[in-house]
Amino acid sequence: MLGAAAGARIGITGLGTHVPERVLTNDELSQIVDTSDEWIVERTGIKERRIAAEDEALTDIARPAVEDALADAGVDAADIDLLICATVTPDMMFPTSSAILADALGMPKAAAYDLLAGCTGFVYAIAQAYGMLASGLSKRALVVGGDVLSKILDWDDRSTLVLFGDGAGAVVMEPVESGGFLGFELGADGGGGENLWLPGSGSRHFDDADSYVKMNGREVFRFATRIMVYSAEQILSECGKTVDDVDVYIPHQANKRIIDYATDKLGIPREKTIVNVDRFGNTSSGSIPLALTDARAENRLEEGSLVLMTGMGAGLTWGSALIEWTNNGRVA
Ligand code: ACO
Repeated sequence: MLGAAAGARIGITGLGTHVPERVLTNDELSQIVDTSDEWIVERTGIKERRIAAEDEALTDIARPAVEDALADAGVDAADIDLLICATVTPDMMFPTSSAILADALGMPKAAAYDLLAGCTGFVYAIAQAYGMLASGLSKRALVVGGDVLSKILDWDDRSTLVLFGDGAGAVVMEPVESGGFLGFELGADGGGGENLWLPGSGSRHFDDADSYVKMNGREVFRFATRIMVYSAEQILSECGKTVDDVDVYIPHQANKRIIDYATDKLGIPREKTIVNVDRFGNTSSGSIPLALTDARAENRLEEGSLVLMTGMGAGLTWGSALIEWTNNGRVA
């Protein structure tokens, strides 16, 4: 799917994030599996990640992120009429994590549902929220992306264990006076699905199914380096922009080598790229909102800044969003 936004200006008016307290370093991991800080840093750029406590589930991590986003936007929870939670690690399949959050936070008017699109979930979710806001169906939406992948990793498998971390990020979306989303590009290739999958997680039964993430790292790496570039070029061209117009590039934080490849291939100067994979690892649906919040903390989201976000992940899925940042706030 590829499209430029038409008509309504819809922007982000609030940001919030939350990560678990527990920091897990590479050195600690090397005491669990046969790996080393040197290998992990060289191959992935990751130095540490946050890991949820035994009794911490997705909504425990997502809730503070949502509360921060609401406070940042100056919006009451009760005024949210759409809540989408992008995740592959909900508290349980149902009730959905979005329904649990809407109830806990007091959003009686909100339509609430979870969205499954691997690490691309957050980008898919903001595109859906955009559509509902632009059509007038929703007046004020909240999108939260987050995962606790530590719960579905095989802690004996060094090839996946070192890559992921837990975390969540949330945004408030609503009509804005200026700027806003310019367009989206979203895609999926189920043919590559078995390169990153959780075979024991649903209604299809496998002879050797288990409930851990399985990944063909080299294939996912190949896919990621190709698709990050393709998706970014598609959305820029659709919106009549070039890479030179991009002020801030927010790629999915999976691996520093993938980020560097995409940045260089696109021709975006590295200083315009937000990187926090070193501190958080791959937080899946939490990755882009966590990086967006870091960008703002570094004063890089100025009025009119053109921000390009690209995600990719299980599905295999991918997606880009282009937004002209505005601090002007909502339409009165
Ligand atoms: N520590 C030490 N050695 C390791 C580790 C580890 N943690 N993991 C693998 N190795 C070994 C391998 O066994 C292999 O050994 P061998 O040569 O004896 O067989 C060697 O290191 C090299 O392995 P490669 O797979 O070739 O290493 P590569 O440079 O490709 O890096 C990596 C592996 C980091 C997984 C890379 O392929 C990658 O980042 N892939 C993309 C992963 C990704 O982004 N996944 C998330 C997608 S988003 C989502 O939806 C969740």
